[in-house]
Amino acid sequence: MIIGAGQDTAHRAPKKNTIYCENCLDTMSRMPDDFVDLVVTSPPYDDFRAYNGYAFDFDSIAIELYRIIKTGCCIVWIVGDKTEKGTESGTSFRQALRFMELGFSLNDTMIYEKTNPVPQPTSKRYAQAFEYMFVLCKGLVSTFNPINEETLDYYKLWKNKGKTNRNKNGINRDKACNWNKTKKISNIFKYSLSRWSNDCQSKHPATFPEQLANDHILSWSNLGDLVYDPFLGSGTTAKTALVNGRNFIGSEISEEYCRIAEERIHALRIPAQNTMDICHTAPNSAMLQGLKPHAGNTGTSA
Ligand SMILES: C[S@@+](CC[C@H](N)C(=O)[O-])C[C@H]1O[C@@H](n2cnc3c(N)ncnc32)[C@H](O)[C@@H]1O
Repeated sequence: MIIGAGQDTAHRAPKKNTIYCENCLDTMSRMPDDFVDLVVTSPPYDDFRAYNGYAFDFDSIAIELYRIIKTGCCIVWIVGDKTEKGTESGTSFRQALRFMELGFSLNDTMIYEKTNPVPQPTSKRYAQAFEYMFVLCKGLVSTFNPINEETLDYYKLWKNKGKTNRNKNGINRDKACNWNKTKKISNIFKYSLSRWSNDCQSKHPATFPEQLANDHILSWSNLGDLVYDPFLGSGTTAKTALVNGRNFIGSEISEEYCRIAEERIHALRIPAQNTMDICHTAPNSAMLQGLKPHAGNTGTSA
């Protein structure tokens, strides 16, 4: 459901799987304490992009985020700095430190690396190829489902060289060497900006990749959890939460972007029994049908 500013929302706790077309401070003001299981979000960066002219009040939002996140749960704050007159603003660091002053622990300073950054031939800097992903937690993290990758398979390398799989004493090397077959991936997540998803995400000027939202949602939440994005934009967090069996609440101040988000979520065609209750404040309420289990890597652009 999209609920717009000025509608009858006073005193009502925000509903799951709903887009609130309003200032996120208004949405959060109606949330009880310790309400959401995860926040994945990317705020407006300095005044880098106009976003139809909307600004935001960082300090009030940070205080509210601390109040509404459950103890042991995380906020993934994806942010970069503007560079002006030869210096970066430093806003990202200032925000991370302010979150810590408010009581968050800084669980991990992660990097969102863009594998094909926009070349900047005229500046006296290297190409800007990353953004910060501050994983901030109220207390210590309770949910962590790490993404793993295969470790180098020495046995396969050995076999490929035509060597025997047995030690001199006849013991099978694979069994004798008790190595771990998988390890946690690093805290640098890499995504290509070259491919847009085939939905309407590209109508928003600053989306993050679906795979990025996917990776954080899987890492820091469980099935059925409630994921909140206070700066929903084109709805990437909402879409990815639903695809992974989580619930979402989104706030987005621009009506235009709310419509984009709604369109993307409708395109998922989620069955009514999957807790999805998207309808319009306008008469065309449409239940969604036929959810795909996983989004896959779309590698879309930020
Ligand atoms: C960086 S974009 C988020 C993009 C989003 N992650 C995506 O993938 O589409 C930030 C969004 O925050 C919205 N915004 C700015 N101030 C806001 C506020 N106070 N409350 C809610 N939304 C706000 C802007 O309109 C913009 O769409």
